Amino acid sequence: MSTTHAIELTTQDGQSLRFGCAPQQTLLDAAAGAGLLLPSQCRSGSCGACHAHVTRGDYLLGEHSPQALSAGAGAVLMCRTQPRSDLAVALPCEASRIGRGGVARREAEIAALEPLSEGTVRLLLRLKPDADGNGATAEFEPGQFAELELPGEGLRRAYSLANTANWAGELEFLIRLQPGGRFSGWLGTRARPGDTLVVHGPQGAFGLRENGLSPRWFVAGGTGLAPMLSMLRRMAEFQEPHEARLYFGVERAADLFALAQIEALRAELPRLQVTLCVRQPDARWSGFTGTPVDALRRDLAGAQGAPDIYLCGPPGLIDAAQAAARELGVPDSRLISERFVAAAAAG
Ligand code: FES
Repeated sequence: MSTTHAIELTTQDGQSLRFGCAPQQTLLDAAAGAGLLLPSQCRSGSCGACHAHVTRGDYLLGEHSPQALSAGAGAVLMCRTQPRSDLAVALPCEASRIGRGGVARREAEIAALEPLSEGTVRLLLRLKPDADGNGATAEFEPGQFAELELPGEGLRRAYSLANTANWAGELEFLIRLQPGGRFSGWLGTRARPGDTLVVHGPQGAFGLRENGLSPRWFVAGGTGLAPMLSMLRRMAEFQEPHEARLYFGVERAADLFALAQIEALRAELPRLQVTLCVRQPDARWSGFTGTPVDALRRDLAGAQGAPDIYLCGPPGLIDAAQAAARELGVPDSRLISERFVAAAAAG
């Protein structure tokens, strides 16, 4: 008798996907075997990219980093979850984010590499035509990430895209250089315009929710700003009329970056309010003092109705923002988050 369990995934836009999963298989592997490429990155329980919610059935959740998963009944990482019965699973993304086939692999060259603040750089890549000579359009959804690989070194790091899809094949990343990190070390000292990288992507489920005209609040820590810029730029391109707020937090005022890009967005999106948050300001700082979670808490307390809240940054910031939002009555369905993945944190 077969012991394969029936798995039913439901996407945020209500599509149903079904496949079988043996008890010793993870949901992620079984889905891949059925030709469904679910959002994931580390595949080892440390990044949180494959999080989902089991709404019915029994399962075994294997070893994983506590930072990769918010606490809560039914919260799982699909790369670490094995079924013990038939399962119904709610996915935090729309069906369009589920790949059919493999992750695209393309070569790109460095078009620009420039410092943004101490320890943070802007990397602009330009895709090369593929092996069949097809053009180099950059196609992705705002909020997605790509893994960048140094050819010949087997070294990959995942970074969120900061720009939007374009015909020029350009991919923009805002990268925090991690002291001692191998990829960071290469970027900080040896990388030059014209160097080639391999791009694996786009990947990931983070991105804008189509949720009527609900206000959209974006909460970013450090280079967690990148996917927020991408989403806001898309809103500007489409002239979306939503009320929007951006909370961007850093430690010191000197760590702020991309201020010109934020100003440009403010000019294009009249309903965008921006709060720059500095945790340890010097005497010259006249803006908000505290973390973006402090600012979020202040504004939620006076808000009428719950906004959709987009969160990107280190796990500590996301957990604190989620806790504050829940405390102030925001339902989980309105919280959309992307944790910095382990590989990126490793630099
Ligand atoms: S892919 Fe599952 S936790 Fe990273």
